[in-house]
Amino acid sequence: MILKDKDQATVLGLSTFSQVRIHQPYGGVVPEIASRNHLETINEMIARAISQAKITFGDLDAISVTNRPGLIGALLVGVSAAKALAYALGKPLVPVHHLEGHALSPFLEMDSKTRESIQYPMLIAIVSGGHTNLYVIQHPPEIWSLDVLKKSLVGRSRDDAAGEAFDKIAKLMGFPYPGGAHIDRNAEGGNREAFDFPRALPQKSHYDFSFSGLKTAAALKINELKKAGEFEKRLPDLCASVQEAIISALVSKIELAIKDHGCRTLSIVGGVAANRRLREAFSNRNLILPKKEYCTDNAAMIAMAGAIRFLQGHGVRDEALLSVSALAHPEI
Ligand code: KG4
Ligand code: ZN
Repeated sequence: MILKDKDQATVLGLSTFSQVRIHQPYGGVVPEIASRNHLETINEMIARAISQAKITFGDLDAISVTNRPGLIGALLVGVSAAKALAYALGKPLVPVHHLEGHALSPFLEMDSKTRESIQYPMLIAIVSGGHTNLYVIQHPPEIWSLDVLKKSLVGRSRDDAAGEAFDKIAKLMGFPYPGGAHIDRNAEGGNREAFDFPRALPQKSHYDFSFSGLKTAAALKINELKKAGEFEKRLPDLCASVQEAIISALVSKIELAIKDHGCRTLSIVGGVAANRRLREAFSNRNLILPKKEYCTDNAAMIAMAGAIRFLQGHGVRDEALLSVSALAHPEI
């Protein structure tokens, strides 16, 4: 992916290769298959983005890569390719945190009216397949420190992430991986109150989430309905009720954090930000959202984070490139 400049954040070229179909028969991501496939496709993806942007490698100012956190094999492929490219071109490399990319995704191609409407503190909810994290951010991205996310984390999931809960329950319903969007679609026309599923950690004193109890309750209900021969008929009600349990847990903790920290803008990012019910639940708030194509993992958000860090002077060059490594589990 290629970005034009930090104020406009225009996406000139973006190539994405989804491995969803490759992993679907296994019901989840198989790490070894993921890294092999990265290796097979990465050069073509880079070439495609450059040609789409109608530029040459020499026109680049810097190269940005996500080096943490994630599946180590897949990260190593990206980091090695980016290091080789930076070294060969004599350009700086900017390693960025995957979650910082998500946090910045709404700023991609953001219109000036929305940009002007942003007020701080801002609550950022990263709601993806791997994370359900709440951050209270005091400053605009241009002046974020390197450990901004670590310092501003106020809440997180204690077990499954919201997207993971969607996926696991969808799998029990027979939907292919990843199932979040299938539940979203099938919930249409269903009754949200048909089944009373547990709301995760409803206590009023903290902003953490837990979705494992819901998963167990949903599994029991699915089996019960299947035994009674009513599963197909009740599927929209089931999807609407499961979705409501996840979304209402998100809504109550997000609202609590907004109130306690005096947040003036809410930003929801990550794959689950594509969920229609979640978007609707906050439609009365000063809300910023990424475009749908920037909700799920993408290279544009990594370039956006890299551009900001590059302008702050965080590029790595020449021999120092050897010190850049992939990290499966950084602290945040
Ligand atoms: O951000 P993302 O692409 O990957 C991670 O960094 O984890 O998020 C993927 C997650 C999956 O769990 C997927 O089921 C979920 O986002 N997702 C949705 C919807 N679209 C994607 N969940 C609920 N409703 C949706 N419409
Ligand atoms: Zn992600």
